[in-house]
Amino acid sequence: MDRNAILVVGSANMDMVVVAEKFPQPGETLFGRQFNMYPGGKGANQAVCAAKLGGETHFIGRMGNDLFRERLVQNMASDGVVMDHLLIDEQEPTGIALITVDGGGENEIIVISGSNMKLSPADVESRRALFNRVGVVLAQLEIPLETVARTAELAAAAGACFILNPAPACKLPVKLLQRVDFLTPNRLELELLAGMSILDDIESVRCAAQRLLDQGVGNVLVTLGERGSLWVTPGEARLFAARRVQAVDTTAAGDAFNGAFAFALSRGETVPQAIHFANRVAAFSVTRMGAQSSMPTAADIEEWV
Ligand code: RIB
Repeated sequence: MDRNAILVVGSANMDMVVVAEKFPQPGETLFGRQFNMYPGGKGANQAVCAAKLGGETHFIGRMGNDLFRERLVQNMASDGVVMDHLLIDEQEPTGIALITVDGGGENEIIVISGSNMKLSPADVESRRALFNRVGVVLAQLEIPLETVARTAELAAAAGACFILNPAPACKLPVKLLQRVDFLTPNRLELELLAGMSILDDIESVRCAAQRLLDQGVGNVLVTLGERGSLWVTPGEARLFAARRVQAVDTTAAGDAFNGAFAFALSRGETVPQAIHFANRVAAFSVTRMGAQSSMPTAADIEEWV
């Protein structure tokens, strides 16, 4: 192993996905078009994305001792993720997510965390040696915040680049923000983190991102869906446009962006190159159903471009 490798510390869920023409109103019953189960979870999705693109990718997570774990592990391993560091929880079931996708490909998600929320700082600590062997560490917020904080400390101590995808968003302690090299919120997550509402213009997004830079974050990369992504550093903001596509399912587009960005950085790409690439991978992912099933290989991307 060399330091081109990537470590993802995060969640894995079995996604139960219903596709319907529109989202139901409160109290309304609708007929859906189809139902399917797909391997998901933000951490696992990002790991699968990086691995399918060709990165040596390791995953630290906690799953239950059940059938969903078996299916998720099988899927992640067959996509190339190294699963040697997985922890198994005898009390809690593997996480699940209930997802509705509407006719325009938009989604609504409810997560039941199960074993994901049992991934402790001590669990991550027990895999400490791994941090010294990777170049990029990637985490999200579907595991306990103290575990994310410990992950950030271990990444810093090992001299690895730390990317935090703050999803689903919650207020973050300044000490954690100061250890983040790249923070990758979407617009709604940025609003919550910055504590201000964001208007429809880029300047407003930049102002909110600046608040996080002021608290010590290295770079803020805001994912803006079909508008692309905005890279904000002290004194500069640069918009990277996204390719227009017909969206089938936007679930895990953010995960595709993060996994691809981590992969490109681990390969020594510059930040602008990595953002261009991540935009492309995220756009590709929305043209396919499911989370991990929508992640492309490097060949898929080359062909598509
Ligand atoms: O980001 C998409 C993911 O969010 C889904 O796969 C679901 O499991 C939830 O974690």
